[in-house]
Amino acid sequence: MPARPIIIDCDPGQDDAVALFLAMSSPDELEVLGITAVAGNVPLRLTERNARVMCDVAGRRDIQVFAGAEKPLIREAISAEYIHGETGIDGMDVFDPVTPLQSQHAVDFLLETVGNAAPASITLVPTGPLTNIAAAIIADPQIIENINEIVLMGGAMREGGNRTPSAEFNILADPHATDIVFSCGRPLTVMGLDVTHKVLSTPERVERIANIDNAVAAATAGMLSFFHRYDTEKYESPGPPLHDPCTVAYLLRPDLFCTKRCNIEIETESELTMGHTAVDFWHVTDRPRNANWVFDVDANGFYELLTERLARF
Ligand code: BDR
Ligand code: CA
Repeated sequence: MPARPIIIDCDPGQDDAVALFLAMSSPDELEVLGITAVAGNVPLRLTERNARVMCDVAGRRDIQVFAGAEKPLIREAISAEYIHGETGIDGMDVFDPVTPLQSQHAVDFLLETVGNAAPASITLVPTGPLTNIAAAIIADPQIIENINEIVLMGGAMREGGNRTPSAEFNILADPHATDIVFSCGRPLTVMGLDVTHKVLSTPERVERIANIDNAVAAATAGMLSFFHRYDTEKYESPGPPLHDPCTVAYLLRPDLFCTKRCNIEIETESELTMGHTAVDFWHVTDRPRNANWVFDVDANGFYELLTERLARF
């Protein structure tokens, strides 16, 4: 089977960075058409730089990186340096990358690449706020029919929020953009905190990655160790959750995850619960089932996959 064409829209972020590595480790299954950066964990000038750093470290300077939205569609920008550090990728040695930044805006790249593709052919993998994807859909709704599937990280049901009591960071960062993406009508698979909080980077799992003798594994182990400090205290867990790579792992090994087709609506009005993902898990409404909500994972299988793929570099 030919590799599946994907575009990764991200805000690196240590866990976005690991998602990029996992995708770049798997060229037989995934063809990365481009990486589009968005402001999120840290400002855009850092997220686009960090995406290019990952291309350098992985030896994939051929992958094109584009800078997109500097702020959400409507709300003020939020960021998360208190988790990710000032660089967004604290824990690894950060440097000025050789991989160039493309001059084309990320939204124009999405419009051109998805717009010129065959119907239902491109898979989008957003791991940050959904501003770039929504802006492209607003600019040309016809691109929607060429999207094969959207597999994104965001939202929470049973876990509650990680940025407010109700909301997960990516959705809170741009709830209006999220609403547009969740209404687009294409297959949507949503990897929220209910599942990513089961994918814990315990010291044993990180050590197995640290024992791999290549630069990608070293950078990954460094970044995961940095994450440890803050998240294990917050969640009182044996390791920090590894959110964003779940999206790419799902593309490679969907059998590792359990999903349920549900209606999911996004809160865009109440300040108290802004960015909440209202997941109709028990089908208590007649609202259309617009998403596959991911609710369970084989975490050992996930880390086996990640460790095996990082060893390929
Ligand atoms: C999400 O927010 C960011 O901090 C992470 O990169 C991830 O995409 C988790 O809530
Ligand atoms: Ca992210």
